[in-house]
Amino acid sequence: MQLNEQQTKWAQETLERVSHKLEKVSERSKDKIPYTTVNGIHDDWSGGDKIGWWTNGFWGGMMWQMYALTGKEFYKEIAENNEKKLDADLMDYDKLDHDNGFKWLPTAVANYRMTGNKASRNRGLLAASNLAGRYNSAGRFIRAWNNWDQENDRTGWAIIDCMMNLPLLYWASEELKDPRFTQIATSHADTARDCFVRGDGSVNHIVSFDPINGGMIESFGGQGYGVGSSWTRGQSWGLYGFTLSYLHTKDASYLETAQRIANYFMANIPQSGLIPVDFRQPVDVTWEDSTAAAIAACGLIELAKLTEGRQSGLYLNSALKMLTALTEKSFNWNEDEDNLLTKCTAAYHDKKHEFSIIYGDYYFLEALMKLVGRELFIW
Ligand code: GLY
Repeated sequence: MQLNEQQTKWAQETLERVSHKLEKVSERSKDKIPYTTVNGIHDDWSGGDKIGWWTNGFWGGMMWQMYALTGKEFYKEIAENNEKKLDADLMDYDKLDHDNGFKWLPTAVANYRMTGNKASRNRGLLAASNLAGRYNSAGRFIRAWNNWDQENDRTGWAIIDCMMNLPLLYWASEELKDPRFTQIATSHADTARDCFVRGDGSVNHIVSFDPINGGMIESFGGQGYGVGSSWTRGQSWGLYGFTLSYLHTKDASYLETAQRIANYFMANIPQSGLIPVDFRQPVDVTWEDSTAAAIAACGLIELAKLTEGRQSGLYLNSALKMLTALTEKSFNWNEDEDNLLTKCTAAYHDKKHEFSIIYGDYYFLEALMKLVGRELFIW
């Protein structure tokens, strides 16, 4: 991957501006675990039941990236604080689901990788063991969610997002020199490759399997527009997730799958560079999801590193198109407010659309760190 002079300048200057803002934001939010902002100020998900929310590792991850960039102890302390607060979640079985990777890779495992902290290693391994325990061997998938309500029986449900949780299992195998975790991860990835990714490179969000005999039953629209649609964040999780599974296993089928999703994604990027909530949403619906753009950019940058020539340039330029569009049109540069990205959307059918969400900010920062070659590898 080769950035030209102008692209390098843009990435460095943008990261500098973001870093300047984050120094102020982190001072204001040092005791919080934010999810979104209210009137420009971070909310806080560190207390009570809220601690189980799947996004609670991203703030810590941002702080570790900032520590990697600046070496300022202040960021390390905030990240460690986030990690310790998550113990209330790790010790509450019913609050845990497949999102252990999202919670403990950017916190405990990042800490262990940076400092060798034994307590952090322990947290990461407990989280990985719990994730492995969600494996359904008949269907060869990791169960996504619990039956938190009576609305649906989710015992046989798997979701594309889980591709981003698999690196916790790859890490545990490497750390323990024990292939069992990787065996579960690759079995799930094989199922996702065969049952989630469509021929055209678009991706299902939820697939339901018979939890007893493992047979695939049907797919659901999930957080996208509907059955058979193309929820953009799901496309991004697939794009980046299969790339990561390739990086960890060197299984060429995962790279081929990531590239198929990437080609589909790039073909659907609008002229504006801004990503809708669903690539198949009605034409008169304009809702966007900046998180999908930031996550896809991370995956595309990794694909650019894995390829050469025109192909590599295509991935890199598509990532840069989305990242520059975000900074020009969907960014909050006001240093007195806490979010970076605007126009993030959690789910198409939610009442609220286009607000700030912490994982959008996390992946935007990660993408910039990748571009300047300073990334702390989290996944
Ligand atoms: N992992 C849930 C989401 O992407 O909203």
